[in-house]
Amino acid sequence: MTQTERRIVAVAGGSGFIGRAIVRRLAHDPDTAVRVLTRDPQRARARFSGAAPNVEFVAADVTQGARLAEAVAGAAAIVNAAQFDNYPIENRARGLTFERVDYGGTVKLIAAARAAGAERFIYISGAAADERSAIGAFRWKGRAERAIREAGIEFTIFRPSLAYGPEDRVVNMIAKALRFAPAMPVPGDGQQRLQPLLVDDLAACVALAAGGRGRDGVYEIGGPEVMTFDALVRLVMEITRRRRPIIPIPEAALRAAGRIAEMAPGALFSREAVDFLVADNACDLSALRAEFPIALTPAREGLKYLAPA
Ligand SMILES: NC(=O)c1ccc[n+]([C@@H]2O[C@H](COP(=O)([O-])OP(=O)(O)OC[C@H]3O[C@@H](n4cnc5c(N)ncnc54)[C@H](OP(=O)(O)O)[C@@H]3O)[C@@H](O)[C@H]2O)c1
Repeated sequence: MTQTERRIVAVAGGSGFIGRAIVRRLAHDPDTAVRVLTRDPQRARARFSGAAPNVEFVAADVTQGARLAEAVAGAAAIVNAAQFDNYPIENRARGLTFERVDYGGTVKLIAAARAAGAERFIYISGAAADERSAIGAFRWKGRAERAIREAGIEFTIFRPSLAYGPEDRVVNMIAKALRFAPAMPVPGDGQQRLQPLLVDDLAACVALAAGGRGRDGVYEIGGPEVMTFDALVRLVMEITRRRRPIIPIPEAALRAAGRIAEMAPGALFSREAVDFLVADNACDLSALRAEFPIALTPAREGLKYLAPA
C-alpha cells in the first residue's frame, strides 16, 4: 500500500506524553499514516526515540485556526491530545489557559476537521470533565466536549483518570522524589481517588476508535482498580523498594502557596492547580468495557518498569 492510499489519522498534541503513545500505537497499523500536528516539527520528531515510520510531522497550532484546515487536509480521523505547556498551571499572560488551548483549540480543530471532510473526531478529555464545574480545568473540558457533541461530526470522547507510563510526569516525579527525599509529600489528605491508567491501554482504545469503535460515545477510562493517591504512592514505594514516610500537605497550605505564587511572575503554581491535584479522578468503566475489547492493565503490573533491575 502506498503512502497516498493509507488512511491518515492526524494527532494534535501527538508529541506529548499521551499523544506519543497514541502515535506509536497507530503507526503499528501498516494501513494507517499518522500525522503529528505540532508547533515545532523538528522538536516533536526528536521526542520519538527510534524511527517513526508512517509518521509525518506538520506545523500546526490549535489556537491558530487559519492554517489548521491545511494541516488536517486528507485526514480521515483527528485526535485532539493537545494541552498547554506546564498544565494545569495556567499562565494568562502567555495565553496558556484551559479556555484558550483546550476549549478554544478543540473548537478550531473541529472546524478544520469539518472543512477537511474528516469522518471522526477523537478527544482526550479528563475524568472530572463537567461543564457545570466551578473548577476551570474541568469546566472547559466539559465545554469542549459539548462543542464536539454539537458539531455534527462522528466523535469519540475519552475521559482518562491519571495516565502513567515510562514517559509520564506524575508517577515519574513520585519515583524520582523517592530516590532523594527522606519523606514523600502528598497533596491534601492523600485520599483523593484515582484509577491509574497505563497509557498504552488508552492508546489502544484510541486506535480502535480511529478505526470506528465507540461512535458518538463518551467513555470514562482508568485502570481496573480504584485507589487513593496515598495508595498509589505506597505502591510506587513497594515496587521501587524505597519506603518513606508520607507527609500530607494540607489543602489550606497548598492554597496559601498558590495565592503567593499567583502574585509572583512566572506562573509556578496556582490555587486552581491545587483544585486539580486534590480532585477525585475515579471512573465508571461500564460503557468502556461494553464497547472496547480491552483488558485494562492492573497498576502493579503496569508499573513494573519502575522496579530496580
Ligand atoms: N497525563 C494524564 O495523566 C492525563 C489524564 C487525563 C487527561 N489528560 C489530558 O490528555 C491530554 C494530553 O495530556 P498529556 O499529559 O499528554 O499532555 P502533554 O504531555 O503536556 O502534551 C501536550 C502536547 O500538546 C501540544 N501543544 C501544546 N500547545 C499546543 C498548541 N497551541 N497547538 C498544538 N499543540 C500544542 C504539545 O506539543 P508541541 O510542543 O509539539 O506543540 C504537547 O506535546 C490533555 O488534554 C490532558 O488534559 C491527561
